[in-house]
Amino acid sequence: ESYDMGGHDTYMHKEIHEQVDAVDRVLRGRIDDRFSTVRLGGLNLDAREARGVRRVKILGCGSAYHTGLIGAQLIEELARIPADAEPASEFRYRNPVVDPDTLYIAVSQSGETYDTLAAVQELKRKGARVLGVVNVVGSAIARETDGGVYVHAGPEVCVVSTKCFTNTAVAFALLALHLGRIRDLSVADGKRIIAGLRKLPEQIAEVLSGEEEIKELAAEYANAKSMMFVGRVRGYPVAREASLKLKEVSYVHAEAYPASELKHGPLALIEPEVPTVAVLPDDDLLEKNRATLEEIKARSGRILAVAHREQEKADHTIVVPRNEVELDPILMGIPLQLLAYHTALALGRDIDKPRNLAKSVTVE
Ligand code: AGP
Repeated sequence: ESYDMGGHDTYMHKEIHEQVDAVDRVLRGRIDDRFSTVRLGGLNLDAREARGVRRVKILGCGSAYHTGLIGAQLIEELARIPADAEPASEFRYRNPVVDPDTLYIAVSQSGETYDTLAAVQELKRKGARVLGVVNVVGSAIARETDGGVYVHAGPEVCVVSTKCFTNTAVAFALLALHLGRIRDLSVADGKRIIAGLRKLPEQIAEVLSGEEEIKELAAEYANAKSMMFVGRVRGYPVAREASLKLKEVSYVHAEAYPASELKHGPLALIEPEVPTVAVLPDDDLLEKNRATLEEIKARSGRILAVAHREQEKADHTIVVPRNEVELDPILMGIPLQLLAYHTALALGRDIDKPRNLAKSVTVE
């Protein structure tokens, strides 16, 4: 991939469409079918050390933080290690307890974000082990960490992250699988996740082939006063990222909430001019999510669902292909990148260089 626009009008559009190849690249050479695991050459964490990890704390900013939310869920689910993500910008200011049995992971596209770098430096000063999940090879965060996983998304030019977001989520799935297989993830589950990962490039191409439909939906929702994004558990980080992306590139105000929190306050905002995007994977929470759609409908709210099958309570459903449930956040975010892109296009925004934003924030 190069800086050439390749026939696309914007880098954002080009980078969204590069995701098929980008995901193929982050997987390439890493899958080990013999042991139903993955090889991560630069991790610098042997099996004994990996077994000694008691907690995982992931740090990043903006979209990188959101991939950390996905990563933490994957690590908990596949490796059964308690894991959470926190904005690096907050972590570094709150005098955190640095625990020797915690594995810290810094996540960054550029590898130069000052808040994330400062968090890494503070952790290192206190003797912590810090890994990086980074896109830019040889960047400051890649150099300061003890090891890690390169994301191999290729150069990302547009200020809003698309292919790097997706590739980072896949990199976390690889790391979670690797840690899981060292710990208690069965061979059968390892095989299942590997098969799911291998399906991703083709399924991403399938999602992207629905672009025309998403463009029409964007035109319909572009004049919203504000948009609400909701999801539960695996759907929630997807909602967070989709809400950020819409704000960044289209300047349409958006909020993201766990669907379960709607009734604790934000439901007051629901009205026809404030549509809801609901991320509804076909998992054990689908029924609960449907109840949330009813609550929204009862307040005359319009609903755009991203789901594995048509949702009759929604006004529109974008159907995405099924994969393994653990990998749902990876595919479900992609149509919402297109929604943000086409909303911005419909509103005539400067897509690759949104106002007030820089690609990487290298100052405090
Ligand atoms: C991406 O959509 C954003 N512009 C922004 O949130 C970004 O993810 C954040 O500034 C962190 O950047 P990094 O990944 O280069 O560290």
